[in-house]
Amino acid sequence: CTGKVTLLLKNLLVLTVATKQTEGFQRFRRSAQFFNYKVQVLGLDEEWKGGDDKKPAGGGQKVRLLKSALKQYVDKEDLIILFIESYDVLFASGPTELLKKFKQAKSKVVFSAENYIYPDRKLEAKYPQVRDGKRFLGSGGFIGYASNLKKLVEEWKGQDDDSDQLFYTNVFLDPEKRESINISLDQRSRIFQNLNGALVLMRHELTQGVDAKKLSCPIMCNMVNCLLQLQLNYLGNYIPQIWTFETGCTVCDEGLRSLTGFKDEALPMILIGIFIEQPTPFLSQFFLRLRNLRYPKQRIQLFIHNHEQHHLMQVDSFVKEHGKEYLAVKVIGPDDEVENAEARNLGMDLCRKDPGCDYYFSLDAEIVLKNTETLRILIEQNKLVIAPLVSRHEKLWSNFWGALSPDGYYARSEDYVDIVQRRRVGLWNVPYISSVYLVKAKVLRSELDQGDLFHSGKLDTDMAFCHNVRNQGVFMYLTNRHQFGHILSLENYQTTHLHNDLWQIFSNPEDWREKYIHENYTAALKGKLVEMPCPDVYWFPIFTDIACDELVEEMEHYGQWSTGDNTDSRIQGGYENVPTIDIHMNQIGFEREWYKFLLDYIAPITEKLYPGYYTKTQFELAFVVRYKPDEQPSLVPHHDASTFTINIALNRVGTDYEGGGCRFLRYNCSIRAPRKGWTLMHPGRLTHYHEGLPTTKGTRYIAVSFLDP
Ligand SMILES: *[C@@H]1O[C@H](CO)[C@@H](O)[C@H](O)[C@H]1NC(C)=O
Ligand SMILES: *[C@@H]1O[C@H](CO)[C@@H](O)[C@H](O)[C@H]1NC(C)=O
Ligand SMILES: *[C@@H]1O[C@H](CO)[C@@H](O)[C@H](O)[C@H]1NC(C)=O
Repeated sequence: CTGKVTLLLKNLLVLTVATKQTEGFQRFRRSAQFFNYKVQVLGLDEEWKGGDDKKPAGGGQKVRLLKSALKQYVDKEDLIILFIESYDVLFASGPTELLKKFKQAKSKVVFSAENYIYPDRKLEAKYPQVRDGKRFLGSGGFIGYASNLKKLVEEWKGQDDDSDQLFYTNVFLDPEKRESINISLDQRSRIFQNLNGALVLMRHELTQGVDAKKLSCPIMCNMVNCLLQLQLNYLGNYIPQIWTFETGCTVCDEGLRSLTGFKDEALPMILIGIFIEQPTPFLSQFFLRLRNLRYPKQRIQLFIHNHEQHHLMQVDSFVKEHGKEYLAVKVIGPDDEVENAEARNLGMDLCRKDPGCDYYFSLDAEIVLKNTETLRILIEQNKLVIAPLVSRHEKLWSNFWGALSPDGYYARSEDYVDIVQRRRVGLWNVPYISSVYLVKAKVLRSELDQGDLFHSGKLDTDMAFCHNVRNQGVFMYLTNRHQFGHILSLENYQTTHLHNDLWQIFSNPEDWREKYIHENYTAALKGKLVEMPCPDVYWFPIFTDIACDELVEEMEHYGQWSTGDNTDSRIQGGYENVPTIDIHMNQIGFEREWYKFLLDYIAPITEKLYPGYYTKTQFELAFVVRYKPDEQPSLVPHHDASTFTINIALNRVGTDYEGGGCRFLRYNCSIRAPRKGWTLMHPGRLTHYHEGLPTTKGTRYIAVSFLDP
């Protein structure tokens, strides 16, 4: 029995036509190698004249190539040939199973079958009726004896761009030929699982339970059918739901590329294209993270497209201060009037045309790339095009699509949510990526060498890019094997203030926190680092230096400090016992944001420090006070109109001013060296009668809020 199978296997040959070795073709070949199929490739490096995707007919070139290839096998009576497409096909089981099913079909030639008739619908009536299964012939794959196949293509005299589908259909629909060549259709998809038109698909999950570091296999399959013909080339790791699982197999990808042990100067050269296409919060943080990427700057060139006047200063100061650290920097500013797509073409072209460029890394300004290893991780995946997964915080909005709708727009794939939320972890072949991705320069000089990748009909820039990449048979991968970062929300970004990021506490709360909340606030919340310099006066870190500086600058920018005399409305309203030189949060339109800050950061700590008291952080008075020796140096003893008060020092004693501080009279206790970014928190009325100690030099700023008045 084994002998017989071996004999049979020797008599099986796979023929396929591939004029280019696309990634789809390489996937096909890997799966063939895995199962030990003998494959002969026809037409390699020949020009493809068989039509394109704009013209559904075509494919005649394949018939011509098959016809001429068959000449060498005329005398091989027993030879069984599988003729199959390769760009969108992969093997899902081995030759033994294929031959078994071919024999069971009991005809000399078996064609794949389809539910839809094309290219000529008028032929429907001529098709034999079937009780179940698929009725129509598909030319994407067929298997048969060499001599029968020879007869099948004998009468081909068509042109390379004539339809092979129509040709085979006409042979099949001729009852005499059908019988003499002995052709049947694989109606029940026992051999060919054709997914054309099948939209309910299941992507196979790759790496669960597998050590992600060892993993380099994008395809695993375990299904009973012999051949899987994929609907579109990006469905590389989809398996249709209807399939039953019987045998297992793993088809391995080419290896990873390790960067370990490389000297800095030997690392691949990367051109990073940075795109600031709209007003974007936290841009200085963006540049900070760019600098912190762990990759030698002398192996990085920067191309920056800044479309926004609003960001001129930030880009300028980054380039001035750090441009020299990089191998090269090129900036295209708003006055150059270069549009988004054009700018992206320019950036890519810089890399394409520079023989020293190994990778192009495209990075949009709204991407918060927190993983400093990102460049190395992506390079090591060794893909032509690869994106790291980033998504909006706790949202499903991300930089990839799991599937395409039939008209090329977004479609939610069955596994989309699992991939975004990293319940399934792996490397995914996807139809759309955006905002951040790495492209091998090699592919920019071959498959993707057309200068204009970012236009395609009326499609948006990002969709046009993906459309063009897919059309060239280049796979786009997405990895979620690591955490990389997230995407900022740009929705409510106003540009009317000096430091607009301060207003982002609602739209981008995590980024706001990272920029403005002191790194040791979390420790303070746990009760560590909280000091009590005077009875019931707590002292803990709350703001970063940047928060303090920006708040002060914002106030000085606004500039309308109260005069401190009795005409001040607050005094008439009777809330404040003593007047100060100040600007209130509501004067700069910062009331809602300040309230949110109090609620998110002050309330939790209040409840820790004064157990049993639950604050609503209501306030009527929240303001920044300015003390100057020649303006108002100090404040006479007073009670605050509050249940409790916070008093945040916004600048640094010694450097910015001298003197200052706060004295609680009842306890004869002073805090003389306030720390920048730290807040005092003390009860308001009754016990904590206090005074502001004189500022003797420079200018001192504090932010004061009277809570629960
Ligand atoms: C093919 O040949 C077999 C006998 O060898 C016959 O039973 C079968 O009906 C034929 N099929 C067609 C479609 O002619
Ligand atoms: C946070 O606390 C640690 C440990 O006390 C200290 O070393 C560090 O300087 C603090 N960070 C800042 C920004 O003050
Ligand atoms: C207050 O404290 C200072 C030293 O800290 C001391 O010299 C002074 O006598 C104290 N005053 C009262 C009224 O206790």
